[in-house]
Amino acid sequence: MNARPQIVGHRGACGHAPENTLASIARAAELGADWVEFDCMLTGDGVPVLFHDDKLKRTTGHAGVVGETAYETVSTLDAGGWFSPAFVGEPVPSLEAALGLLGRIGLGATPEIKPCQGTERETGEAVANTVARYWPAPLPPPILSSFSLTALTAARAAAPGIARALICRRLPDDWRRIVFEVGAQGIHCRESDLDPGQVDAVKSAGLALWVFTVNQGSRALELLGWGVDAVITDYPDRIAAALGPRKV
Ligand code: G3P
Ligand code: MG
Repeated sequence: MNARPQIVGHRGACGHAPENTLASIARAAELGADWVEFDCMLTGDGVPVLFHDDKLKRTTGHAGVVGETAYETVSTLDAGGWFSPAFVGEPVPSLEAALGLLGRIGLGATPEIKPCQGTERETGEAVANTVARYWPAPLPPPILSSFSLTALTAARAAAPGIARALICRRLPDDWRRIVFEVGAQGIHCRESDLDPGQVDAVKSAGLALWVFTVNQGSRALELLGWGVDAVITDYPDRIAAALGPRKV
């Protein structure tokens, strides 16, 4: 179990298994991920589930949006068949079920707070409360992450003891102010827009810096060489192969 991950599976291991499912999380661990990232959204009746898009269509084929659909319905949808016949019947998991699996397989995680539009505060609060209540004690402490400053602020109010990271595409010019405002200990940034000077600046400020989405081993080695702490990847196996044997 690694408290300072280098390889973080994206939506589980979404290059190999349907994103944001328990199968994808389990696959990430099998393929050498130290931790996983997954997206957390609220159903219409306020249950945090693992889901990326506002709309259900792409990964379940169902009409409608997550934020207006009851958990009783969302939990019965097939979130695996779109990916491959091997995963037909793989459900949309609740966040609580995902945390249970992490405990059983000994895998750390950065749950991403992914609010449907207009539910930033509620989603931040509910995800933080669920993680605070059900996080498996033997695991390294989680890091809540989000693009949404409102969600991160709500998460801090609900569970101030849980670490937070700001997710961004381009590193904003005023990242120091934003990080201070939301009390984040790290930044998760898109890899394509990052340069070594920015990495130095973020690291010099005492923050953890993770990058997404890195699917080539050679690029992972370059970014880690710049001083990035972890890469978020759809293919943990590729990054593990590039890194070779590591001390845990
Ligand atoms: O962890 C960062 C990454 O997950 C953000 O992008 O759209 O895949 O949730 P997205
Ligand atoms: Mg995400």
